[in-house]
Amino acid sequence: MEKTLTTKNLVELRGVDKEFAKNGKQEKVLSGIDFDVQEGEFISILGKSGCGKSTLLNLIGGFDQPTRGQLHFDGKQVTKPSRRAIMLFQFYALLPWRTVLKNVELALEPEGLSKEESRDRAITYLKLVGLEDSLHQFPSQLSGGMQQRVAIARALSIRPELILMDEPFAALDTFNRYYLQDELLRIKQQEGTNIILVTHDIDEAVYLSDRIFIMDANPGVIRKKISVELPKPRDRAHSDFQYYRKWILDEFNFSQKLDDLDFNI
Ligand SMILES: Nc1ncnc2c1ncn2[C@@H]1O[C@H](COP(=O)(O)OP(=O)(O)O)[C@@H](O)[C@H]1O
Ligand SMILES: [Mg+2]
Repeated sequence: MEKTLTTKNLVELRGVDKEFAKNGKQEKVLSGIDFDVQEGEFISILGKSGCGKSTLLNLIGGFDQPTRGQLHFDGKQVTKPSRRAIMLFQFYALLPWRTVLKNVELALEPEGLSKEESRDRAITYLKLVGLEDSLHQFPSQLSGGMQQRVAIARALSIRPELILMDEPFAALDTFNRYYLQDELLRIKQQEGTNIILVTHDIDEAVYLSDRIFIMDANPGVIRKKISVELPKPRDRAHSDFQYYRKWILDEFNFSQKLDDLDFNI
């Protein structure tokens, strides 16, 4: 069951800055990032290219550390990657010489399951994403949308509490994107997984999110947090849906010229 009634914070950021060395001096890429993610929430992060979205996900995933500030996952400071918070990339990073099933089983090796348990678990999640007929195919035999479903099954099979998604559907056509967005909502409801999604697609953010964070660049800041108060599943054609799309588009027009953007709207 989806955990929407608790108010436990799964992720907490307080005053998070991130600097990188550039041309011999420190450049601030993220500045004063403050937010909480409550259990059960679906958060999307929107912002133009280079504003620090991937850097922010990397910090939450423990792949890098903040220069300043506090970053907690389930009440503990994040210092390294954890299998409780898994990153899902735009490029699926499947091993081409392994079948679909073996790609998922590989991710389960550190779980210490028996061979049988591991196979059962892998098949369960491949079924969940509708790939029960493709277990023994190789990634090159699948469409992009199917490969991304393998990557989603692989991430879910670890049973993480949080999946960090960095533009996961950007390489897919509109219909595959719509299909996977619905899959994602269904799976989220079934598994209770929290999701933080980086996207450049305003429609996708409104369709999926409980809250949308809008970032500005140089240095990267969260300028606005918008709660999307619409029941799910959402109707893209409904005037309330259009209202949020327009609101977000106006937010970007307010701070930037349109031709600066690389958004789908
Ligand atoms: N490891 C790194 N070392 C130095 N600079 C980096 C590093 N990672 C990202 N940056 C810089 O940080 C800024 C934000 O990058 P990124 O988080 O990838 O943005 P986004 O994902 O929003 O497009 C960019 O200017 C980028 O060049
Ligand atoms: Mg990025």
